[in-house]
Amino acid sequence: MDTGFTAAQLRAAAADAVRAPSLHNTQPWRFRLRDGGIELSIDPARRLPATDPSGWGARIACGAALFNLRLALAVAGTTGTVRLRPYPAEPDVVARLVPDVPRRPTPTEQSLYAAIPRRFSNRAPFWPDPVPADARWRLGEAARAEQCWLELLIGASAVNAFAEIARSAHRVLERDPGYRDERDEWIRREPAPDGVPATAGGPQSEPQDLLPARAFGGRNRAPGRDFEPEPLVAVLGSAGNTATDQLVAGQALQRVLLTATDAGLSVSMLSQPIEVPGAREQLRLSLGRFGTPQMVMRIGYGQPGVATPRRTVDEVLDLPVVPA
Ligand SMILES: Cc1cc2nc3c(=O)[nH]c(=O)nc-3n(C[C@H](O)[C@H](O)[C@H](O)COP(=O)(O)O)c2cc1C
Repeated sequence: MDTGFTAAQLRAAAADAVRAPSLHNTQPWRFRLRDGGIELSIDPARRLPATDPSGWGARIACGAALFNLRLALAVAGTTGTVRLRPYPAEPDVVARLVPDVPRRPTPTEQSLYAAIPRRFSNRAPFWPDPVPADARWRLGEAARAEQCWLELLIGASAVNAFAEIARSAHRVLERDPGYRDERDEWIRREPAPDGVPATAGGPQSEPQDLLPARAFGGRNRAPGRDFEPEPLVAVLGSAGNTATDQLVAGQALQRVLLTATDAGLSVSMLSQPIEVPGAREQLRLSLGRFGTPQMVMRIGYGQPGVATPRRTVDEVLDLPVVPA
């Protein structure tokens, strides 16, 4: 009887996992086989000490990669059972997957899997067309299916109140030279396998912008190409804020992002109000919800764009060395 995953299954699934989003496209993950299980770990060499001192961002990114891994295995007919943080003594090992009873993939798994290569962060202005009710409902369901919640900010006053919290968090972060240096280090002006290509960084900010955008060295704005006046802003939250909750939230984030892609929607993320503890608490109170906000998204209809680069699978796999 087959008792574990093979190196070929790991390699194929990891190729999809690395398409997940990550803070500054640091891709803070490693994959390996141990005793027949696939293990996903945080890569300590890819932490962002100034931007992400608690490791929240690395855990959200690894959770998102884990969701892709789950989808890839399911679509290949080799579903895995997941244990989060399986070894208390090894907190960087964020998940272990062992083979489950084989079954056919569901239609939802198939359509979300097909969306993996089409998903990317779109930081450009969106069209003013509203996101229809059925798509909004699907996004909420995607979060709930992964034990999280999604709060859509409805109406100008809710969006304005959020924007004020986000802009003040952005100012707090921008005052920190360590944060600014780290961000600049991850901007790529030449082709590179990681970091944020300046071409994907979105347009330069303008004083009239409602929401703050991280300065990824983007191009000047074409005249008249302002951001949509009333963006659809969605806050993703989890029940608590332990390391495990953040891994759960990362999986929910990826499910929401892939559901949006499948519905023809574009998304950009803005996490400044999550990264500044006071702003995160203000956001939580303004929503009147239990639990913890883990990510904010701007959702709408955008122009087609391109996926950002990733390191190759060989660079993120730890395989046993086979003796010559
Ligand atoms: C935890 C986390 C926080 C992020 N915060 C922001 C943000 O504040 N602003 C932004 O433009 N993108 C943000 N992103 C998006 C990443 O920059 C993006 O995923 C990465 O550059 C890879 O590009 P892709 O999403 O197009 O694949 C965030 C992503 C993650 C996972």
